Amino acid sequence: MIAIGCDHAGVEMKKEVIKALTDKGYELKDMGTDGEPCDYPNMAKAVCALVNSGECEKGILICGTGIGMSIAANKIKGIRAALCSDSFSAKYTRLHNDANIMCMGARTIGIGLACELAEIFLSTDFEGGRHQRRINLIADIENNN
Ligand code: RB5
Repeated sequence: MIAIGCDHAGVEMKKEVIKALTDKGYELKDMGTDGEPCDYPNMAKAVCALVNSGECEKGILICGTGIGMSIAANKIKGIRAALCSDSFSAKYTRLHNDANIMCMGARTIGIGLACELAEIFLSTDFEGGRHQRRINLIADIENNN
């Protein structure tokens, strides 16, 4: 199960991403918003909670730039959120950072690219090895600051 959420800026993009991922066989849990103006940190919190609880394996967050969502999500312990606007980043943030949330900007990239990035992100596995040591160092920072 994949958690997804957006603020009012990301509603159209989120609908299309849900459609594209559903067509590929993914199941999604949509945490809103459906269109109501809202504050993006609340959506970030809801999606990250599903990922941290294990109910969802990964999450996708969309706001105008993707920046607010990524800042908010990365404040939550256990979350590694990556703002992506290109396919190399969407792939390598899984391979090297084991990112569990991908953020995108509805006002900065097109819907077709967003659907493609979501699919790359969800279908790429973490490489482990030396990268696990670096993830552990990130967790140390999280636990000691
Ligand atoms: C909402 O207008 C906008 O500020 C939000 O979607 C996002 O871009 C924040 O980072």
